[in-house]
Amino acid sequence: MFKFTIIKYVLTEIKMQAGKETIDEVQAKLELLKKKFEDDGQSLNTHLDGLFHSNYLSYWNYIHLDTLLSLQTPRTNFPDELIFITYHQITELYFKLVHHELAQILNQENISGEYFYKKMYRINWFLGRLIESFDIIAIGMDQEQFIHFRAALTPASGFQSLQYRMIEIAATEFINLVDKESRDQFSDYATIDEMFEHIYWKRGSIDLATGKKTLTLRQFEEKYSRRLLRLANEHKNKNLYSLFKRLTFEEQKDEKILAAMKRFDTYINISWPLAHYKYAVRYLHKPNEEVASTGGTNWQKYLPPRFQKRIFFPSLWSESEIAEWGKNWVETEVFDVKR
Ligand code: HEM
Repeated sequence: MFKFTIIKYVLTEIKMQAGKETIDEVQAKLELLKKKFEDDGQSLNTHLDGLFHSNYLSYWNYIHLDTLLSLQTPRTNFPDELIFITYHQITELYFKLVHHELAQILNQENISGEYFYKKMYRINWFLGRLIESFDIIAIGMDQEQFIHFRAALTPASGFQSLQYRMIEIAATEFINLVDKESRDQFSDYATIDEMFEHIYWKRGSIDLATGKKTLTLRQFEEKYSRRLLRLANEHKNKNLYSLFKRLTFEEQKDEKILAAMKRFDTYINISWPLAHYKYAVRYLHKPNEEVASTGGTNWQKYLPPRFQKRIFFPSLWSESEIAEWGKNWVETEVFDVKR
């Protein structure tokens, strides 16, 4: 009762100070609020009580700043390890944004070319910033420190990034993620479960000396295999590539949309892997000495896109483009770095 008296008083005040239009607006909003709460079986009165007592939001609470800044916990005393952790976390946050946009495309009913393009533009923009920013590693991290602190991180590796795998699974038909040597053995009727064991990253993480799966892979499988397999089945007919193929004929031929699809394929399957490879080479390579990676892959063979030939949207590329996949970039970027 008391509250309504206050509201009435406030409304009268507003009326006197600001004129009739304002009070009508406030009253109309109160009516709408009342209806909203009633529809949900809630009382406007109780929620107004809540308003009286609730605190104002602060920036640090909103973005959970204290928690965020407590998440960078180096394993060694080398100062540059902080850069290494933080940039991995930054990358994971960008992956989250990319996946968030992808999920919106995939969950949209009756998608229009315009909406598809808008989301692809965003995704590519995020990925573009990620590729550019990889130089943080070079600027922020001394190789001498890295060589020492990396030993304390074994067998953890970016190889175990769940979101990287989730983006791939949401992007394309599963066969395109199958190791390229094994692709031909699967017919159009192969199930995801049959193909899953042949996904490229399982093949890439086999210890060459023993033929066994690396610990890095076994850890990853134990934690995420079931989840990834479930996702892969969910995305079987609901991935970016299949959705693109369901756009109208005109939309599929639209130059902007085509360019956005190709840019995405290039960013994820060439530019980012090569920005990453460039630093793997720089940080894991010492004259007359090959430094092993923490994840234990044969990384010189595993990481370069020209060996993997992972292509999300093969029908959008010409035969020669596929044959040259990742080559030019390697020559200009990676080998320049080594020289
Ligand atoms: C000096 C910096 C880095 C080096 C030397 C490096 C090295 C490697 C190596 C050798 C691999 C292959 C797996 C293994 O044997 O461990 C790998 C995989 C991977 N790394 Fe890094 N990495 C670096 C920075 C990063 C950063 C900043 C990220 C960001 C999240 C990242 C994400 C990944 C991902 C997603 C994979 C899997 C790639 C694939 O399966 O094709 N790495 N990394």
